[in-house]
Amino acid sequence: MFESLKPGTPDPILAVLGLYRDDQRPHKLDLGIGVFKDHSGNTPIPKAVKAAERRLLEQQTSKAYVGMAGDLAYNEAIKRVVFGDLDLGDRCASLQTAGGSGAIRLMGEMLNASAPGARVWLPGPTWPNHAPTLATAGLSLETYPYFDFGSQSLLKEQMFAALAKAGKGEIVLLHGCCHNPTGADLELEDWHRLTDMALAQGFLPFIDLAYQGFGLGLEADAAGLRHMASHLPEMLISASCSKNFGLYRDRIGAAILIGANAASTSAMRDLLISRTRLAVSMPPAHGAEVVREILSDVALEQSWREEVEAMRLQIQGARQALADQLRSLSNSDRFDFIAQQRGMFSTLGISAEQVACLRDEHAIYLVGNGRMNLAGLRADQAEPLARGLLAVMNAED
Ligand SMILES: Cc1ncc(COP(=O)(O)O)c(C=O)c1O
Repeated sequence: MFESLKPGTPDPILAVLGLYRDDQRPHKLDLGIGVFKDHSGNTPIPKAVKAAERRLLEQQTSKAYVGMAGDLAYNEAIKRVVFGDLDLGDRCASLQTAGGSGAIRLMGEMLNASAPGARVWLPGPTWPNHAPTLATAGLSLETYPYFDFGSQSLLKEQMFAALAKAGKGEIVLLHGCCHNPTGADLELEDWHRLTDMALAQGFLPFIDLAYQGFGLGLEADAAGLRHMASHLPEMLISASCSKNFGLYRDRIGAAILIGANAASTSAMRDLLISRTRLAVSMPPAHGAEVVREILSDVALEQSWREEVEAMRLQIQGARQALADQLRSLSNSDRFDFIAQQRGMFSTLGISAEQVACLRDEHAIYLVGNGRMNLAGLRADQAEPLARGLLAVMNAED
């Protein structure tokens, strides 16, 4: 049966993880996989999550299936996190998914069911899972210029010029905030311009919101997509609770659908539900219940908001500490971009040899072309990291 089966390609991050685990050097530093770590190197469970879980443990009386649409109160509550006060009424629906990834895959399938093989424009670079997930759903892919590693700057005009060619029936994927892997985000005025382009040209924005709260804050990080949502007839959002609720392994996110009218939105939602039925029959409960519990209690929500803000400030502090070390050790402002970029990641744009040299000679683990997870950096590690980076980058520049 399986003689001709080709093994799937493992994610290169997993290989890095294995090497890190086997590394015996006590000062080894893992900036590879994208999880937040506290000062003791642990990926914490937010207090609000623990409190919600305690309540669920006490209150839950059954493990019978939840309904096909999952947790309805969660589906409503997550819209409030994403949209704030913006109420789109019955033009907007939300459905719980297995993380942000589940939302991307399901909405990819929905797009392909509606317009087979439709073109999706992805930023270059983007999260490595975007292209294979959307291609597997049947869509065709196009890249628009987004970022230049050499100058560590956005390629805005090239981006707008490329997207001027995106027309009706095409999809443009944008990172809502904290762009992965570059940490370089669009300004509000860029969102305004893209909104005008979408209105004039008819393309459909698909916003991937995986790090809300980690950039400028929970509200500011959603400002761009909120502007779009309040002006455009149609739009899709994949939201993730992995990072900002610390619920990585519980796999909870949402597919948020904005349609031209209530009937269109309802058709989209029904299609997602029927695809969920085919894929997993019934949705899981735990992650959605935890988030719903937090968002339905004023005190718990406040505590969660404060914890998100604390994570954001820690990441910002790590960024600043590394930029300061690099500035003083290199006597240049060449690395100041690290303090200015947002969210968990910055990417140095270095060669595979330089990444290997950082690992082999300095016990510093990065992925790809030098993507660093700044949310994994403790203050006391900024100096050795800066020294390692400079040794490798100056040696091979
Ligand atoms: C840009 C982006 N989108 C989506 C995701 C999906 O996150 P999850 O499926 O864990 O919610 C990630 C996770 O790393 C990401 O970086």
